[in-house]
Amino acid sequence: MINVLVVGSGGREHALGWKISSSPKVKKVYHAPGNGGTLNNVDIGPDKMDLLAKFASENKCLTVVGPEVPLAAGIVDVFTQKGLEIFGPTRQAAQLESSKVWAKNFMKRNGIPTARFEIFDDAVSAKEYAKSVDFPLVVKADGLAAGKGVIVCNDSKDAVSAIDKILVEKSFGDAGLRIILEERIDGVEASYIAICDGNTAYPMATSQDHKRIYDNDMGPNTGGMGAYSPTPVIDDTLSENIQKNVIEKTVSAMKKEGMPFKGFLYAGIMVKDGKPYVLEFNARMGDPECQPIMVRMESDLVDYIQASINGTLSCLPKISWKRQSAVCVVLVSKGYPDSYPKGEEILGLGDTDANSYVFHAGTSRVDGKVLTSGGRVLGVTALGDTLQEAISNAYSRVAQISWPSKYCRTDIGKKGLW
Ligand code: AMP
Ligand code: GLY
Repeated sequence: MINVLVVGSGGREHALGWKISSSPKVKKVYHAPGNGGTLNNVDIGPDKMDLLAKFASENKCLTVVGPEVPLAAGIVDVFTQKGLEIFGPTRQAAQLESSKVWAKNFMKRNGIPTARFEIFDDAVSAKEYAKSVDFPLVVKADGLAAGKGVIVCNDSKDAVSAIDKILVEKSFGDAGLRIILEERIDGVEASYIAICDGNTAYPMATSQDHKRIYDNDMGPNTGGMGAYSPTPVIDDTLSENIQKNVIEKTVSAMKKEGMPFKGFLYAGIMVKDGKPYVLEFNARMGDPECQPIMVRMESDLVDYIQASINGTLSCLPKISWKRQSAVCVVLVSKGYPDSYPKGEEILGLGDTDANSYVFHAGTSRVDGKVLTSGGRVLGVTALGDTLQEAISNAYSRVAQISWPSKYCRTDIGKKGLW
């Protein structure tokens, strides 16, 4: 029996911890720092690598890292140097997410399908380029910007103001020292996530996120307002195409370039005319995609995590999934993704039942009450024999939960009802 330390405090980490704790191999799951819904919380932030390593060592934990920031800062390298078991990519391999410039160049030199692009570090030449092209652009800051560093433009005027925002006003600080101007591809988005051990990659179930704050994909981008799995956007043929031409190509090129990729490899895909284009790589699980994926996973996640660390994935069977659909509706506090109230009491949480799960994100527990403490507050996740049934199950659970500034989209999953 082993102990597991889950690093992070979002809905993704609650869902990972929930799944890991169902493994017969696991004695105790700790969360650092966790949230109001997770058990065995340890008050150490994800940036305190040495303290986390000390805790993991003293409590004989295998460590699983949820968010990108500690991965990009090299938590896997630090733990590995100390002889501690940890799941995720090294700092170098995490560049697939932490530098969009690096990732775009990597895709170009390895023939991985992505939108055409140019890289700039001065505003004058970037604007000249933006005015010279006859297709719409997306302007992206190079570094990590909590999902906010991407500006989708309609015309060159939009592109010029996006260039000013990043390169001149420095709205994203050092993350915006370089920018990418890439062709906007208008298609349908989906998430394709695989678990990798440096050589081999096994697909997780497919999913689709809902990034905009309002129904019908209106309003600004957020960290994700809901997700469902599986998604009809990725049928079997497309899935094979992505597995071969995106995931396996990436894994073998990363190995060839001397930085084998271990951990969850997330490809954000735009599908246009039946063809996949990589919009971004993430070096971790998606949030909220993780929540519906975890409730559909039948295999023991711990087996796959250990095989990823040990490089033995190919000895395991492919991951098995419930045939049911799952939907996660994210409940936020009104005002998110900008400013929002905190400290409101959440009522109606009840107990987890067989078909629905309330994964916590921005919550804290104070004197027996559960209070809101972040923008994305809860991820209400439900299974159903059909996607429609999963949607109904999730929204009936959502209706039982309340706090003064609760807000959610009412159309999560509808995009999958073809
Ligand atoms: P990224 O973080 O690079 O995935 O970008 C965030 C969001 O911006 C994506 O989920 C898409 O909705 C949108 N986006 C990014 N790149 C493109 C592109 N080349 N064409 C159209 N939309 C894009
Ligand atoms: N849901 C998108 C992400 O995790 O980046």
